Parts: sequence; structure tokens; C-alpha cells
Amino acid sequence: MEKKSQAFFWGAATSSHQVEGGNHNDWSEWEKANADRLAQEAPKHWQKWQQEKFPEMMGRENYISGRACDHYNRYEEDFDLAKEGGHNAHRFSIEWSRIEPEEGKFDEAAMEHYVQVVKALRARGLEPFVTLWHWTMPVWLAEKGGVCSSEFVQCFVRYVDYVSQHLKNDVQFWITLNEPNTMAFHGYITGYWPPQKRNPIRYFLLAKTFSRAHILAYKALHRHNPQAQVSLSLIVPYIRVPNIPLMGKYLQKMANHVAADMISKKTVKFQDFISIQHYHYYHLGTFREQELPSENFTDLGWEMFPKGIYYVLIRMKRFNLPVYITENGLADADDSKRTKFIQDYTKWMRKAMDEGVDVRGYFYWSLLDNFEWDKGFWPRFGLVEIDYKTLERKPRKSFYAYRDLIRGH
Ligand code: BGC
Repeated sequence: MEKKSQAFFWGAATSSHQVEGGNHNDWSEWEKANADRLAQEAPKHWQKWQQEKFPEMMGRENYISGRACDHYNRYEEDFDLAKEGGHNAHRFSIEWSRIEPEEGKFDEAAMEHYVQVVKALRARGLEPFVTLWHWTMPVWLAEKGGVCSSEFVQCFVRYVDYVSQHLKNDVQFWITLNEPNTMAFHGYITGYWPPQKRNPIRYFLLAKTFSRAHILAYKALHRHNPQAQVSLSLIVPYIRVPNIPLMGKYLQKMANHVAADMISKKTVKFQDFISIQHYHYYHLGTFREQELPSENFTDLGWEMFPKGIYYVLIRMKRFNLPVYITENGLADADDSKRTKFIQDYTKWMRKAMDEGVDVRGYFYWSLLDNFEWDKGFWPRFGLVEIDYKTLERKPRKSFYAYRDLIRGH
């Protein structure tokens, strides 16, 4: 395949389980078993204003992904919207549980679906960025112990090999694993996500598992297409700490969940680009001089700090690789903060670029409202609003503001 010229990629991202609907995997099973509990516990986790604004968080159906956005059947309509929004790239993930519903048995029709998805993107001038694992897995693998199974790496690489054989001529950009550090953190430290363990040793051991899985997948993808551009995405928050040089460095490392640094150090020789996902800003210690106004917080209570992305990007310079921001976004049901959020974060991205960071793409999270894991449907991340009753798609004002911003560049 010919190497593409260096266009800047503007787009949005989604993941299979969060938008497709109709999935049967470890998460869909976990949702059914935990929906009642999650609904009952909601008042413990969310403030009064959030409970009042999003009463659906108290209902069990909020926690069942079910038909989600039915993107599996409506992807063409959704890609029409992406095109209308001025995007020239789109990031999505392949659902492993569809491709390999039984161990070692690959479903050709499911694979063909994704071949068509890629074609539909290309037909609209959208460069596909394909994620191979965005946290969900086939039930048979979860039953063997999931990411902790001694067979995980080998199974993952076999699946990657199969997908790569089918898409090698049409896909250049690949992300092997989506934020394995986040999955490990919530699956094995906080215990919020399946398999709900609290086992720090496992957490640290998983850095090695994920590094191996990535490196072998990287090799498989390159075997099929030497021009492939392969990475793994990591969540990189920005922590502001009191100005004590040594402590600052240590806390900054912690901010990257330690494992992120462990994974990136081990795998950096096997990355063609750096894929970072940035949402979080934490303000520690004595820095907080005054209470911040509510405009500074998203619906999930995450504090916004656009300059954080600049600091994070500057830190990426040490890898000397092209950088793609493969996720950045906010939950904002009223759409009152999203336009400014995108403008401000991309302004700081520009500043990092002016200072020599080779950023080549920005993907807003997310194209559509979607199923936000253990929080369910109430957080609204989409440029496009979804009416979950009718499945009608309605571009928000920020959808057009993002389009104007893209045109302006
Ligand atoms: C994940 C997405 C998630 C988003 C917002 C990212 O870390 O990759 O799946 O929806 O954060 O929480």
C-alpha cells in the first residue's frame, strides 16, 4: 500500500461495545449481573445536582448496554454525519467477541462486516484508525481468566493475525490495545470493572502481559503490511503538584498510573506513533487557592484544564515519534461547554506543535453519545446526541463548531 501524505487527521472516536449494540461479551454479562447494584449505589457516587439532572442513573436499564446506539446497523448514517462534520479520519474498534465467538472459530460474516465498515469510511474520505481491543473480550476467554490467563497473549495475537489478514490492504493505522493501564486499574485496583479484583500485584504483572501482547501484535501487523502504523493508546492525565522538584517528578509518574510508563518504556521500540488519550487534570496539595466555578467541571465532575494537554504533549517529545491524540472529550449533556472545550484544548495542542511536538491528529471522544461503561448511558460525550428511545441522531451545536474549527485549519 502507498504511504499516505502527511495530512492532519481530524475526527472522532468510538468503541464497539459502547456504540454497536447487540454484543455478547464479558461486559454484557457483567452488566446483567450488576445493573441492580449499580443503580442502587448511584446516590453514593454522585452529587445531588448530578442525581437531579440525570435521574436515569437510578434505573437498572441505564447500566445495560443492550442495543446501545445500534451503530452496528447504522454505521453508514453515522459516517455520513462524520463527513458532514468535516472529519477526515475516524477511530473505531473491532469487537473480538463477534470475530471469535468460540475459541479458535472465526466468524467470517462478522469479519466481513468490518471490511464493509472500513470501505464505508474510505468511500467518505475518512481514514480508518482501527483499535483491536477496547476492553471487551469473548466470554470463553473471560472464563479462562481474561487478561490474567496464561493464554491471553497467544489468543490475542491469533485474533490480531486473523483481522490483519482481512484488513491489511485497507487499514494503515492500528491501535493494538486501548488504554490497558485504565482497564488494569479498574479491573485490578479499584475493583469497579470486571473482573472486580483488588490485587496490586496482578496490576503490576499485567504491564508485562500487555507489553508482550502489543509487541507480538505489532509484529503480526507489520508482517502483513510493512507500511502499517501501529501503536497502543495510553491515558495520560496531567497532575499539578506543589512545586517541590523531586516530589513533582514522582507524582507525575504516579499520574501516568506507573504502568503506563512501564508499558511505554518496554514497547516504545514497537510503536510507529504515540497514541495518547487525555481527559484528566488533578490539582494536588496547596495549589488550590480558590474554589473553582462549576463551569470548570464536566457532568462527570472532571475538572477541565486545557493547558494540561500542552504539558502532556511536551512530555511526549522524548519519544521522538509522531503523536496522535486519539481521545479527548467531555460529558456535557447541555452542550454548553463542549465548543469551548474543543477550541481551548486544540489551541494548546497547536502551541505544543509550534514548540516542536509532531502532532498529526486529533480525535474527539466521541462522535455519538454512548454507553459509558460502569456509568451507563447518562454521561453524554457525543458531538451527536442520541435519543435512546427512537435512536434518532441529532448533531449538537458543538458538532458544527468543531466542523468550523476543522475548516479554519
Ligand atoms: C475510554 C473510553 C471512555 C472515555 C470516557 C476513555 O478512557 O477509552 O472508552 O468512554 O475514556 O470515560
